[in-house]
Amino acid sequence: MNDTLEKAKATLPVYGFLNLKDYEIPQGQELIKAILDLKKEKNAVILAHYYQPPAIQDIADFLGDSLQLARQARDTDADMIAFCGVHFMAETAKILNPTKKVVLPDTQAGCSLADSCSAEGLNKMRAEHPGALVATYINCNAETKAASDIIVTSSNAEQIIENLPKDRPIIFAPDKNLGRYLMKKTGREMILWEGSCVVHEAFSMERIAQQLASNPDAKLIAHPESETPVLDLAHFVGSTSALLNYVETSDAQKFIVATEEGILHEMRKRAPHKELIPALVFDESCNCSECFFMKRNTLEKLYLCMKYELPEITMDEQLRLQALKPIEAMLEMSKSIK
Ligand code: 13P
Ligand code: SF4
Repeated sequence: MNDTLEKAKATLPVYGFLNLKDYEIPQGQELIKAILDLKKEKNAVILAHYYQPPAIQDIADFLGDSLQLARQARDTDADMIAFCGVHFMAETAKILNPTKKVVLPDTQAGCSLADSCSAEGLNKMRAEHPGALVATYINCNAETKAASDIIVTSSNAEQIIENLPKDRPIIFAPDKNLGRYLMKKTGREMILWEGSCVVHEAFSMERIAQQLASNPDAKLIAHPESETPVLDLAHFVGSTSALLNYVETSDAQKFIVATEEGILHEMRKRAPHKELIPALVFDESCNCSECFFMKRNTLEKLYLCMKYELPEITMDEQLRLQALKPIEAMLEMSKSIK
């Protein structure tokens, strides 16, 4: 088995995960049992984002949005955090709780927003706007976080931007759609980085308008990473958690949902009698409302990463401490947000 592990480790940088074909992996209920046994054996906690495949959501100890998962990672006393989400989320867990082993089933689980924004680029933008505060969406890598003054998530961004000193210009990175939405909500001018989410940009305003016309009793709900024309059409705009709460508590019985489709799994559990219609995307032949980064994680990869404790998130301590500062500033400014 050691030979196999050495061989699999060698392919890690290419595959991003332990090569499945090198291992015997239990199937079906046996696989679930094996993951639960590993959890006990290793005193591990499984954290999963709402966009994860349903089978992973169902096995997780905590399911949440990026803010809730960051807090769970910070507060856990487990020895190992098996993070089922994308790379920047697992990195955030490591930044917040460095003595824990953080494993991610597939390190290629990236994010188009994180990929669009380097620390170098952000520093250049800062130099062009002396005196500006840099507020960065949590969807970015550790280096970019370290180059920021404060981090925000979709659930606390509005509150944080509103409370930043009024006499300082704000650079907002990397999501221009969320940035525009925040400018409208808070009335604050911001200098925007030109990044976007490949999933939320795929929604078609025209096709959604047709869906609304055929379902006049439905409420359109959208995540603020969607483009402005979709947000302008929406009855409700909110973060992942806010959309879940809205579906659960609203009097409406039907919703057209313009965000990543994985969230429908939890929405159906919380509001089983309500009708949920995924919003349509431009390309009829594409599953574009599913984040292919999030869906790279599977139960099989989760099993292997817990068993062999690989791939593991590691980080230079100086970088971690620099990235921690703006995350702590965010947590301090958003204590009131669930
Ligand atoms: P949340 O902050 O709402 O969890 O969103 C993360 C994300 O990747 C949205 O696309
Ligand atoms: Fe990144 Fe978009 Fe996927 Fe969220 S849905 S992880 S923003 S690519």
